[in-house]
Amino acid sequence: MPQRILVTGGAGFIGCNLVRHLLERTDASVTALDKLTYAASPAALDGLPADRFRLVVGDVADAGVVDPLVAEHDAVVHLAAESHNDNALVDPAPFVHTNLIGTFTLLEAVRRYDVRLHHVSTDEVYGDLALEDPQRFTEDAPYRPSSPYSASKAGADHLVRAWVRSFGIRATVSVCSNNYGPWQHVEKLVPRQVTTILDGGRPRVYGTGSHVRDWIHVEDHNAAVLAVLERGTVGETYLIGADGERSNLDVVRTILRLMGRPEDDIDLVADRPGHDLRYAIDASRLRADLGWRPSYDGLEAGLRTTIAWYEANEAWWRPAKAATEAAYAARGQ
Ligand code: NAD
Ligand code: TYD
Repeated sequence: MPQRILVTGGAGFIGCNLVRHLLERTDASVTALDKLTYAASPAALDGLPADRFRLVVGDVADAGVVDPLVAEHDAVVHLAAESHNDNALVDPAPFVHTNLIGTFTLLEAVRRYDVRLHHVSTDEVYGDLALEDPQRFTEDAPYRPSSPYSASKAGADHLVRAWVRSFGIRATVSVCSNNYGPWQHVEKLVPRQVTTILDGGRPRVYGTGSHVRDWIHVEDHNAAVLAVLERGTVGETYLIGADGERSNLDVVRTILRLMGRPEDDIDLVADRPGHDLRYAIDASRLRADLGWRPSYDGLEAGLRTTIAWYEANEAWWRPAKAATEAAYAARGQ
C-alpha cells in the first residue's frame, strides 16, 4: 500500500470523501491538489489531521505545480475534472483544459518519476444504452461518448492507456456510474432535488424523466477505488457499480416520499440537449477479482442518510443554491 498519496480534485465531491476514506482506512499521508473551482468544498477538508493531510491549491494542467508534487508521492489518484454535463453544454473549454490537458500533464509527471497512478473515469465514456436493452456496460464496451463532458473523459482514458502501453507507466483505470452522497454540489440531480424540497419547491426533471442512471453511494465508490489501488492489476480497467439502475422519475419520487411530500409533486422541464438515455454497469470483474461489495443495501438506504446530511448541512450548500438555480432558470430547467 502506498504511504504518500496525492489526490487530484481532492476538494471536490468524490475527492473530499476519498481523502477522508484514505485517512480513516489506511496509514498513508494524503495531499489534495485542487484548483478550488466553483465545484470545490475546501470546508469538507477542515479539521483533518495536519500531520497526515495537506491541501495544495493549483491547476492539474500546470506542470510547474504538478511535477514537484508528483515526485514527492508514491501514488496518485486522479479525480480533478470538470464534471457537470449541463455546464459543458454552455462552455466546454474548461472541460478540454482540465480533463484532457490536465490528465496529459499528470501522465508526463508520473512517467518522469515512475509513480503509480489510478485514474477515475465515468461510465458516460461508453455513450448510452437503449432503455429496454438487457445489456450493461462491461470492461470491453466500445467507447462512444456523446457529450462534451464524456468525450473529454474518454480522451483522458485513452491517454492513460496509451501511456501504459507506450511508456510502461504503472496505471489502473476505474469507470464508475452516478455517485450520490454528502458534499455533492447542488447542481447535480440528487442534491438539487433534496435542497429544492427543503426550500419548499418542486423538483424539476428533464424531458419525460424516463432516462436511467445506475446509482452508487460515494462511500462504496471510494472503497472500490481503494481496493484497486491496493490490489488492482496494473494496466487493468475496473467497472464500479452497485446494481442501482433507476429512472430519474423513480429517484425523484423516492426522494419526495422519504421527505414526506406527495410523489407526484414534480415539474417536467426542458430536456438536456443530446441527453443520454441509460447507463448501466456490470461490476462482475471488481467483485470477482478484488472481492469488493457495496455496503449500502440499495439506493433508498443511501438516499435516507444523504437527505439527513443535507438537512443538517444547510450552511454548506446554501451559498451555492441561488446562483445554481438562476443558471438553470436561464435554460428553462
Ligand atoms: P466535482 O466537480 O465535485 O469535483 C472536481 C474537483 O476538481 C473540484 O474540487 C475542482 O475544484 C477540481 N478541479 C477542477 N479543475 C481543476 C484543475 N484544472 N486543477 C485542479 N483541480 C481541478 O467532481 P466529482 O463528482 O467529485 O468527480 C470527480 C471525478 O470522478 C471526475 O473525474 C469525474 O469525471 C469522476 N466521476 C464522477 C462521477 C459522479 O457521479 N460524480 C461518476 C463517475 C466518475
Ligand atoms: P446529473 O446529476 O447531472 O448527472 P449525469 O448527467 O452525469 O448523469 O443528472 C443525472 C440525471 O438526472 C440525468 O439524466 C439528468 C437528470 N436531471 C434532471 O432530470 N433534473 C435535474 O435537475 C438535474 C440536475 C439532472
